[in-house]
Amino acid sequence: MGLNSRTPSVVLIGFMATGKSSVGAALALECRFIDTDVLVEDAEKMSIHDIFLQKGEKAFREFERREVSKLRALVGNDRCVIATGGGTVIDSGNMEKLKMLGQVVCLQATLDAILARSKSVSNVTRPLLSATEDERVAIENLLENRKVYYEDADFCVDTSDHKTEEVVSMIVRQLNCPGKFSEAVSLTRL
Ligand code: S3P
Repeated sequence: MGLNSRTPSVVLIGFMATGKSSVGAALALECRFIDTDVLVEDAEKMSIHDIFLQKGEKAFREFERREVSKLRALVGNDRCVIATGGGTVIDSGNMEKLKMLGQVVCLQATLDAILARSKSVSNVTRPLLSATEDERVAIENLLENRKVYYEDADFCVDTSDHKTEEVVSMIVRQLNCPGKFSEAVSLTRL
């Protein structure tokens, strides 16, 4: 397979706290799991929180773009699961590159579910939420602005009221190559 053809990977896109990392790791039990936020942190030797704080969002987006550009070579001909950051897809060049990697699945959740999950964790990787006065309004605005980008996925799955393994099953059922991704996942909640 040449570097210009689509690999058999699965790419998870979607808003913050929709479960991309936990679902991605569970879906990837038998293959490689790549998280673009982790790639940025490793490359910069700095947490997302510190990148936003010290270098700003614009710099973070540049780092993110650079790591997305490297994905095709990183993946090679392997089957991988790739989780992206919530804002990765607002760059049309990123989305084009992600589509080259395989099927793009958007994880969705209701505003209330996102808010509840976001409040239950430290949000240290989500400066766009932790730095706001009114998290509900911030989520609402970002969701509205990004809706159009998320809808560009091959298909969407709502994770609001589902456990990780249920979401994995829903994804596997809709994939072109369902047998190739694991359904044997833990019972952890998102
Ligand atoms: C962001 C989402 C975060 C992280 C960064 C920016 C966004 O990733 O990339 O804080 O713009 O929505 P998660 O979606 O994994 O939280």
